[in-house]
Amino acid sequence: MKIPAVKGTRDFYPPQMAVRNFIVDGWKAASLRSGFEEYDGPIFEHLKMYQVKSGDEIAEQLFSLTDRGGRNLAIRPEMTPTLARMVNQQIHALPRPIKWFSVPRLCRAERPQKGRLREFFQWNIDIIGAEDVLADAEVIFCAVDYLKSAGLTAKDIVVKISSRKMLASLLEAVGLEDNQLAGVYAVLDKKAKIPDEAFEAMLQETLPDAAIRGKVRKVMSAVRLDDLSQAAALTEQAKAAVDELKRLFDLLEKMGISEYVQFDIGVVRGLAYYTGVVFEIYDRGRSPRALCGGGRYDNLLSDFGGPKVTATGMGMGDCVLEILLREKGLLRDGDLPTRKLDYYLVTADSSLGQKAVELAAAIRLRGRRCDFSYKGGNLGKQLKQADQSGAAKVIILGEEYSRDQMLVIKDMKSGQQAQAGWEAFLTSLSGA
Ligand code: HAM
Repeated sequence: MKIPAVKGTRDFYPPQMAVRNFIVDGWKAASLRSGFEEYDGPIFEHLKMYQVKSGDEIAEQLFSLTDRGGRNLAIRPEMTPTLARMVNQQIHALPRPIKWFSVPRLCRAERPQKGRLREFFQWNIDIIGAEDVLADAEVIFCAVDYLKSAGLTAKDIVVKISSRKMLASLLEAVGLEDNQLAGVYAVLDKKAKIPDEAFEAMLQETLPDAAIRGKVRKVMSAVRLDDLSQAAALTEQAKAAVDELKRLFDLLEKMGISEYVQFDIGVVRGLAYYTGVVFEIYDRGRSPRALCGGGRYDNLLSDFGGPKVTATGMGMGDCVLEILLREKGLLRDGDLPTRKLDYYLVTADSSLGQKAVELAAAIRLRGRRCDFSYKGGNLGKQLKQADQSGAAKVIILGEEYSRDQMLVIKDMKSGQQAQAGWEAFLTSLSGA
């Protein structure tokens, strides 16, 4: 019986695992550069954790299960609720601001398509307990720092930034009620991802009043922050939110990444818990799928029963990122080694097989990476294996060993060969 892999999942054979490690190593290095500490949580949580504040879209995409005790659980579709729960549990013991990062494996029952799968990895960075917009700037900086380190330039990617606080006051000023906002956000978030007619139909369903729809469209046509700040009709609250955004752009300029960022009132975010600055990073090549998304969520910890503590952060998935890195020639198959061996041992004579095992073990016990051929006898075949293994050096137990107990050590890059006695070679590895 042949059982296929589950739809929307990936098998990581060694070459794919090398790519995943390359991406994750880059994420971790960027997090550490900006002073974040790593954490992790369980891969499943109580189902209701995602039904309370993440929004309908995530709730509909949950993989849920019932355990033997009848508890309703779900595999994590995102990390932020787990983070909020964990921080709440130790809120009085943790020094603030809390700057944490994680690379969880997440599952969402989405329709699998280019850049969207049912299981993926997502880099999360979050800052908790820092109200100032400086924390939002740090999160954006760290994400851009990683993308720059991966080789992407301001010609390749753009960070689109807006503010839900600002949008809320603009929408309320044109007549929307507070309780209509969440529904309208969910529709506006879809605008760039679906055809115009489908968007119009959704907007009409959420806002049946044509006059209000016209006003919402006008609000959403603002292109520059300056246009907004000069608008006389701006409420005090909207003015404060516009000023906050301006300060964010100033900080990003001081951090040296202004060419990567732009204001875009169309960025609303799909998740329900965002309260302030929101942002998404896109490929300038107009892929409708975001590389990354995040923003401020000042009420999530208190919504989960904790004290009122502010928070901001972002999540970046590995799928869209890998596609973009490949498109830009920044990741080529075969570029990344699947293993890094220091030594590969071959024997010219099958009677030396035991010696190879002994030497390999001694090399490994001295902390070096070593493997050897199981094929005794045929030196040509073994040397081919040595070459394929990608080892830096090959050690040949050959004629020289049978005659003089000398190992031949060949540097695979330069082709240079040297000879050493068994003990002298092992001593050189111990650094003694
Ligand atoms: P999100 O917008 O749902 O935000 O996801 C963030 C990123 O995760 C997306 O931009 C995308 O790169 C990746 N992603 C999401 N769904 C999939 C999928 N099905 N397949 C592949 N990649 C996917 C959040 O998850 C927030 N919790 C981020 C956050 C952290 N906000 C504050 N802190």
